[in-house]
Amino acid sequence: MAQNTSSAVMQQRSESMRSLDDFPTPPWATRALCEHLCDSGHRLDDLTCREPAANRGYMVRPLTEYFGRVHASDIHDYGMGWPVEDFLFPYQIDPVDWTITNPPFTLADQFVSRALDTSKIGCAVILRSAFLEGCARYDGLFSQRPPALVLQFVERVPMVKGMVDPSASSATAYSWLVWVHGVHDTRLRWIPPCRKRLERPEDYQAEAA
Ligand SMILES: C[S@@+](CC[C@H](N)C(=O)[O-])C[C@H]1O[C@@H](n2cnc3c(N)ncnc32)[C@H](O)[C@@H]1O
Repeated sequence: MAQNTSSAVMQQRSESMRSLDDFPTPPWATRALCEHLCDSGHRLDDLTCREPAANRGYMVRPLTEYFGRVHASDIHDYGMGWPVEDFLFPYQIDPVDWTITNPPFTLADQFVSRALDTSKIGCAVILRSAFLEGCARYDGLFSQRPPALVLQFVERVPMVKGMVDPSASSATAYSWLVWVHGVHDTRLRWIPPCRKRLERPEDYQAEAA
């Protein structure tokens, strides 16, 4: 049988360190996080949120369904009309309540630090679950700033280069890692099957504003 080497199913993305890591998040996966936060007592509708690696807006749009205001930017101009900014450049930015994103994997540690420093309540990042391992990351991030919550998807979240694709499959496990200021005891929870309930046909229309 031929090996499936599509970018959707490879465990390791073949992106270079310096690439943009252009792998947008299917909107249902962001709704899953917001539903979990709401169900666990967070009221989001009067809060601000930043998506600092906003890409084509596939995460921004579901975030606007839950948050009062969403600030979007990206280092690359995807033609969406929002500011083109390097989130890691140490300029002064207005604090928000939450920062929520899918950062480039190789810069995720730095994104989390920057997000925590610029968010009043906390931050959440969706990443391959393999992000949880590694001695250097443990020393530099998890032992210093442990997440409050690890939300492991039980379903696969297919991410493909440059687009979202309802028919894509994946062999890669994803989780949301959530940091909340003042909470240093990490809880693990599973995100039960929810794709069918949270997915909408319009999620896959290109750049639907
Ligand atoms: C994995 S994609 C995720 C896109 C979007 N967050 C989503 O979930 O649909 C990573 C994004 O990070 C952006 N990016 C890479 N380095 C960045 C930086 N230093 N500052 C801001 N955005 C960056 C890329 O242009 C790309 O859009």
